[in-house]
Amino acid sequence: MNKLAIFASGAGSNALNLIEYFKGHQSVAIDAVYCNRQDAPVIGKARAAGVKVVLFSKKDFQSEAFIRELKERGTNWIILAGFLWLVPLLMVKTWRGRIINIHPALLPDFGGKGMFGHHVHESVIKSGRSRSGITIHLVDDHYDHGETLFQATCPVMKDDTSETLASRIHLLEHKWFPVVIERYIERGSVDFSQADVDASL
Ligand code: GAR
Repeated sequence: MNKLAIFASGAGSNALNLIEYFKGHQSVAIDAVYCNRQDAPVIGKARAAGVKVVLFSKKDFQSEAFIRELKERGTNWIILAGFLWLVPLLMVKTWRGRIINIHPALLPDFGGKGMFGHHVHESVIKSGRSRSGITIHLVDDHYDHGETLFQATCPVMKDDTSETLASRIHLLEHKWFPVVIERYIERGSVDFSQADVDASL
């Protein structure tokens, strides 16, 4: 069984979507949700779905004990679903190629420190681009930098606000994040054709 730890800091719509998608899955199980904010809505959502929640501080996150605990739980994969801290090098080394992040724009543009949530959408709108999208990528020790596994795009409308663009992006995230994770875990690559991606939009 592939055991996934989901790291999330906020609303948790992606975390909950993953929990629902992998419920009863034959080879993938969500082991726990790890959260760094005591007041994050993701905590209640995960608990209501019957998933263990682990709260942690920055100090915990950077400790060897934290990594040891994840290992002892048999965590094979780490999924960042709206998680904003830089992953420590030791964690990247321990799960190299097995930490997956979702970013709400088309990297390499609109990424880096401080580029999360509405900041990303505001920058995209300000740039005048006619398309945005999602990037699902492996994580290294730089923000929004590892190998891209998958991208899907959507239009940016003339009258978009960061909220309207965010909801379009969330639809893409909810559609693709679970299936991309599943495909990558099962096959070691994400081989959806661009035609499949475009046809589903
Ligand atoms: C998602 O849009 C995710 O792509 C983004 O945070 C949102 C979390 O929403 N992540 C980043 O910006 C990382 N740089 P959610 O809490 O509803 O899943």
